[in-house]
Amino acid sequence: MRLALIAFLLLTLFAGCAEKQGDDYVIGFSQCTGDDEWRRAMLDGMQRELAFHNNTKLIFKDAHANSAVQVKHIEELLQSGIQLLIVSPNESDPLTPVIEKAFHKGIPVVVVDRRTSSPYYTAYVGGDNYQVGKTVGEYANTLLGGNGKMIEITGLPRSSPASDRHRGLVDALATRPGIQRVATLNGQWEKDIAKNELRKALPNFPDLDLIFAQNEVMAMGAREVCNEIFPERKIRVIGVDGLPGQFGDIQMVYDGHITATALYPTGGEEAARVAMNILQKQPYQKENLLQTAIIDSSNVRMIKMQTDKMISQQNDIERQQARIDEQLEIYHTQRGLLYVMTGLFIVSIILGSVALYSLIENKKINKELNSKNTEILIQRNRIQDIAEKAQEATESKFRFFTNISHEFRTPLTLILAPVEELLRQKNESPAVKKNLSLVQKNARRLLWLVNQLMDFRKIESGKIRLQVAGNDIIAFIRELMLPFEQVAKKRRIDFRLITALPELNVWFDRDMMDKVIFNLLSNAFKFTSDWGHIYIHIAHAADEVIIKVQDNGSGLSEADIAGAFEMFYQGKNSTKGTGLGLPLSREFVELHQGTITADGKKGEGATFIVTLPLGNAHFQPEDIADPTSDTIEKSVIWTTTDIEPGHQHIQTEHQDRPTVVVIEDNEDLLGFVTGLLQNQYEVITATDGKAGLDQCFDTVPDLVVCDVMLPGMDGLQITSTLKSDMRTSHIPVVLLTAKNTPEQQVEGMQARADMYVTKPFSPQFLQESIRSLLTNRQLLLSAQVGRNIGDSESGLSRLDKKFVNDLRALIVSRLDDPTLTVEAIGKEMGLSRVQLFRKTKALLGGGTNDLILNLRLEKACALLRNPDLTVAEIADQTGFTSQSYFSTVFKNRFGVSPKDWRLVKS
Ligand code: FRU
Repeated sequence: MRLALIAFLLLTLFAGCAEKQGDDYVIGFSQCTGDDEWRRAMLDGMQRELAFHNNTKLIFKDAHANSAVQVKHIEELLQSGIQLLIVSPNESDPLTPVIEKAFHKGIPVVVVDRRTSSPYYTAYVGGDNYQVGKTVGEYANTLLGGNGKMIEITGLPRSSPASDRHRGLVDALATRPGIQRVATLNGQWEKDIAKNELRKALPNFPDLDLIFAQNEVMAMGAREVCNEIFPERKIRVIGVDGLPGQFGDIQMVYDGHITATALYPTGGEEAARVAMNILQKQPYQKENLLQTAIIDSSNVRMIKMQTDKMISQQNDIERQQARIDEQLEIYHTQRGLLYVMTGLFIVSIILGSVALYSLIENKKINKELNSKNTEILIQRNRIQDIAEKAQEATESKFRFFTNISHEFRTPLTLILAPVEELLRQKNESPAVKKNLSLVQKNARRLLWLVNQLMDFRKIESGKIRLQVAGNDIIAFIRELMLPFEQVAKKRRIDFRLITALPELNVWFDRDMMDKVIFNLLSNAFKFTSDWGHIYIHIAHAADEVIIKVQDNGSGLSEADIAGAFEMFYQGKNSTKGTGLGLPLSREFVELHQGTITADGKKGEGATFIVTLPLGNAHFQPEDIADPTSDTIEKSVIWTTTDIEPGHQHIQTEHQDRPTVVVIEDNEDLLGFVTGLLQNQYEVITATDGKAGLDQCFDTVPDLVVCDVMLPGMDGLQITSTLKSDMRTSHIPVVLLTAKNTPEQQVEGMQARADMYVTKPFSPQFLQESIRSLLTNRQLLLSAQVGRNIGDSESGLSRLDKKFVNDLRALIVSRLDDPTLTVEAIGKEMGLSRVQLFRKTKALLGGGTNDLILNLRLEKACALLRNPDLTVAEIADQTGFTSQSYFSTVFKNRFGVSPKDWRLVKS
C-alpha cells in the first residue's frame, strides 16, 4: 500500500516534467526550393527568430522547385496537425488551391517572397518586386546616360516576383525611350538555364550595353556568358538579391564582376515574427513589404562592411546560441537530476516516515510482546514449579513404594524362611503342611507384588539392565506352564502349548521373560472361567518369534486394549490385579526390542501377543550375560525348597567352633539367623552398628554377618572399618540386605565385603555361604603356614599380608631372645594378646607361640647345616634357654635329636 503511494507520487512528478518539455506551437514551412544561398539565408533568419520562442517547432519541407511536390508537402503538413503554415509558393496558380484550403481550414497562412493568385492568406512578408524592377529600370537609364540596349533574364514566368519585377522594369523604361529592351529571356531563376538562353541570344547583339538578371545566380551566369562571347567588351550586368557573404552578389559588385544589384531581403526573421504574433494572438499586419535599394560601386564598400559585420555578429550570435544550447542542455540535465533528487528526497522522507512509524509500532509491539513474554515466563515458571512438585510427588510416591517394599521384604523373609524350614521337616502332619503351603503360596504372591513394585522403581530410575543368553524358548515356556497345570486341571481349563517347533533358540533375559509369561498366564487364568481354554501359540516368522497367549475368558473392551499397558490402568469392572503386571511386561519386552499387544473383544476372550527379534545382534555387548557369572542366586530363592537332610558339611580342622558375629536391627530376623547358625557356630549378636563393631574388635570373630541398613553405623561402614584395621582385616564379612540393585552390590563390594546376600534369602543359601567362606579360609591357611606371604595368589588382603610379613619379620629379628613373649609382640604390633592370638590363628591356623616356635626350629635347621656351629651355640642363637630344652623340643617336632638331624642332612 505504502509502496503504491510512493510509485504514484513519482509518476505524477515525472509526468509533470515531461509536459514542460512538449512543444507549444508547431509551424509548417513549405519552401519552393531550398537549394540556393538566398533560401538558406531565409531559413536561417527564420530559425534565429524562432529560437527566441521556447518549445516552437518548425517542420521544414523543400519542394526543389517542383510545384506538384510542394502541393503534396502542404497536404502532409496539414494532416500532421500544424498550427500555422509558412509558404513560399513555387508558382502562383498551381499552389493557390492548397493554400486556400489551409486558410479555410482555419490554419493561419503566412505567404513569403512569392505570392498566390488569391487573397486567401493571413499575411504576406516579402520584398516589393514591382519596385525592384522599377528601381533597376531607372538605374539602368542613369547608368547608360539615357541611351543603350539591354536584355532582361526573368525567373519562372508564373512566379509572382518574376512578373512583378518585369512589370516594374517595363514601367520605368516606358518613359525612357533611349533605353531599348532588345530581348527578354526566361532563366527560370536558374543559373544554367539563364546561361543557355543567353548563349543563344547574345551573339545577335554585339552592341549590347547591359543585362538585367532577375536574381543573383542568373546575374553570375550572365557575366560568365558575356566573358565567353565578348571577352573584349565590358557589358554591364545588374542582378537582384544583395546577398552578403563570400559567394553573395554584394561581393560580386565589390569585386566588379557585376555593376550593381537590387537589394531583395529574404524576410525570414520578419516572417517568423509575424507568424508568432498570429499564433500568440498579437497584432500583426497582413501586408509586410520590405524595401529595396541599389548596391553599386558607390555604396558597396560600406554595405559590404556592414554585411560582413552583420555576418560576424551573426556568427557570434550563433556561437552564443550554441553556448546557450549547451547551457540549456546542462540546465536540462541538472533539472532532470534535481527532479530525481527531489523525487528521491520525497521518497526518503516518505520512507523515513514509514520507518519512524514502523519503529514506533515495533516498539509498541515489542512492549506488548515483552509483557506477554513476562506473563509466559511467569506461567512457565509456575508450570515448572507444578511439574517439579508433581515430579517430587511421584518421586516420593515411588520412594514410598520402594521403602515399603523393602519393609515388606524383611517380614516376608521371616515368613518364607521358617515356612520353608517347617516344610522341609518331614514330621509335620499333612494338614499342617497344607496350611504351611498356603502360607508359602500367599507370601510368595505378596513377594511377587513387592518385587513388581521394585522392578518399576528400577525401570523408572533406568537402573534395570538386560542379561540375555540364548535359551530354548519352547522348553522355557513349557517349564513356566508347569505351576499352572495343576490349577488348569482342577478348573477343567484346556491349557495347551500349540507349536510346530520342537525347539527354538531365542536370546532373552530369563528373569524378565519369566515375569512376562508368568504375568500373561496369571491374567489368562484370572479372567478365564472353569471349562474354558488357554492356548499358548509359539510360531516363528522370518526374524522373530511370536508368542500368543489366547484365552476365551471375559475378553477386553476397546478401552481395555488401549489402556492395558498403561501403568495402574484397571478395566472398569475389574477388581482383579494391580494394573502393574502388563505395563511392567511391556517395559521388559521393549527392553528386548520386541513388542507386546493385546487383542480381543468384550466377552469373546483376549489374546496377548509378544514378539521378540531372533539372534542377538540387536543387543548391546553389556546386555549379554557373562556365562561365568553367578545367576543362581535368584532362582535359589524359589527353587530350593528341599534341603538334603544328609548334607555333608565341610568341617573345620579345628575342633573349636568358629565365632560368628551377627549384626541385625530386626530382632526377629536376628533371632532367625541366630537360630540358623547356633548349631555350628558360637554366635555373638548385636542390634546396632556401633555395638556390632565393638563386638568385632573385642572378640575378633571368624566371620561377621551384618545387615546393611542399621542404626548407628551402616553395614558398609562396618565392613570398611573392619577391613582397614589390622586387628580385623582378615575377618570375612557377609552383608545381608533388602537392597538388591547392582549398584548397591557394587557398593558392598567396594567396602570389601566377602559376600552379598539379598533378602529374602534362602536359609540354606546363607548357611552354605558362611560355611564356604570359612572353609575357603581354612584351605588358604594350610597353604600359608610357615612361609612368607608375598605372592598374589595368597588370597589374603594387602593388610593381612602385611600383618603376616611384619609378624614374621619381628619374630625372626628377635629369635635369639629367649624372653620373646606373645605380649611383647602384641605390644609392638599394637594388638592385645587375644587379638594377636585370634588373628594369627585365623590367618596362619595356629597361635602366636606356635609360630615363634616354628620359626625358631626353622632357623635351627638352617644353622645345623653349618658344621662350625655347636648345638649349644645354635640353641643360644635360636632363643632356647638351654641346649637340653632345645634338644627336647627339636626331638618332639622332628623325631630326632639336633645332632642326629645334622648327621642325616650333612
Ligand atoms: C531564389 C530567388 C531569388 C529571387 C527570388 C524570387 O530562389 O530566385 O534569387 O529573388 O527567388 O522569388
